[in-house]
Amino acid sequence: EKGTYAHFMLKEINEQPAVMRKIIQNYQDDEGQLKIDRNISEAVKEADRVYIIACGTSYHAGLVGKEYLEKWAQIPTEVHVASEFSYNMPLLSEKPLFIFISQSGETADSRAVLVNIKEKGYKSLTITNVQGSTLSREANFTMLLHAGPEIAVASTKAYTAQIAVLSILAQVAARDNNIDTNVDLMPELAKVTTAMSAIIDDADRMEEIAREYLSETRNAFFIGRSMDYHVSLEGSLKLKEISYIQAEGFAGGELKHGTIALIEEGTPVLALATQENVNLSIRGNVQEVEARGAKACIISSEGLEKEEDTYVLPHVHELLTPLVSVVAYQLISYYAALHRDCDVDKPRNLAKSVTVE
Ligand code: F6R
Repeated sequence: EKGTYAHFMLKEINEQPAVMRKIIQNYQDDEGQLKIDRNISEAVKEADRVYIIACGTSYHAGLVGKEYLEKWAQIPTEVHVASEFSYNMPLLSEKPLFIFISQSGETADSRAVLVNIKEKGYKSLTITNVQGSTLSREANFTMLLHAGPEIAVASTKAYTAQIAVLSILAQVAARDNNIDTNVDLMPELAKVTTAMSAIIDDADRMEEIAREYLSETRNAFFIGRSMDYHVSLEGSLKLKEISYIQAEGFAGGELKHGTIALIEEGTPVLALATQENVNLSIRGNVQEVEARGAKACIISSEGLEKEEDTYVLPHVHELLTPLVSVVAYQLISYYAALHRDCDVDKPRNLAKSVTVE
C-alpha cells in the first residue's frame, strides 16, 4: 500500500533510511561485528576472482560493489551486463565466484548466465530482495537485501540495499584476509542513514532543482568521475526511464572525446563532486561544458563544496557516497517525471520483472 504517498516510487525512496537500518541489524552479531553466512565468506575467501553479473540498476550497483571488493578486500572483480556475458565471455580465472545481483531474482538474462556457469561447475552467490526467487534457489548461496517489496518499476531502495550488502560482503572478506581497511563499516552506514534522511527532508529543494534544470529540456547529461561516474549512470537511467528525457551518464574525462559535441545553449549537465581526488578535474569538466552554453547543476559533498554548487550532500565515507548522492538523483528524477505528467510508477514499455531474454 502507498499509504499517504502519492506514488510507490516516492514511498520507496523515503524507505531507504529504514532499509539501511534493517541491513545493519541483519548483518551484525550481538557484539556489533559484521556477520554473514560462513559458507559465503569461505566461498569468497577461496575465490581468486569475482564476476558480478546483473542488468540495469543492479548492474550499476555492481559497479560500486567492484570498488569495495577490490579496494577493501583486494579481490580482482569484473562486472558484466548479463545479456552480453555469453557473447563476450571473458577468460575465466581458475577459481571464479559468480555474484548475481537481482532485486527480483527472476531476471531471465541473469538466469541464463547462472545456468551456463552452473553447468561448468562454478560457485554462485545471489544478492536479491526476494527469498525463494529463481536466482536465489538456483545459486549456491543467497544474501538478502531486506528492502521490503519494491513495487515501482524504477528501482530505488533495492539499489542502495545492494550497495550496502556488497559493502558488508567486501568488509567481511577483508577481515577474513587480515586486511585493515581502516573502515568501521556499521557506524559509517549509520551515518549514511542520517544523510539519506537529510536529503529526503530536502525533497522540496529536489523538486526545485528538477523544475529549474529539467522542466523544458529534451535531453540531459550526468557526469562524474570515479564513484560519481557509477552514480551518474544510475542517475541518467532513473531520469530516462520515468521522465522520457533522453539522459546519458558519462565519465567526466570522456566528454572531450565526443559527447561534448552535444552540448548546446541551455543543455542541462548534472555533475557530482563527492570525491576529493577528482574534485578539481570534474569541476574543470563543468567549466568546459559551461563554456559551450550548458546549464550545470553541481551536487557536491560537504567538505568539497564551492560557492557555485547547487546542492551540498552531507558528508559520509568517500566510498559510501553513492548511497547518498543517488537519493538526490532519485528525487530529482521523480519530480522531473511528475512535472511532465508521466506515470511515475508504471513507465511505458517497461516491466518490473524482466523474465524474457
Ligand atoms: C531500473 C530497473 C531495471 C532493473 C533490471 C534488473 O530502475 O529497475 O534496470 O534493475 O531490470 O532487475 P533485477 O534487479 O530484478 O534483476
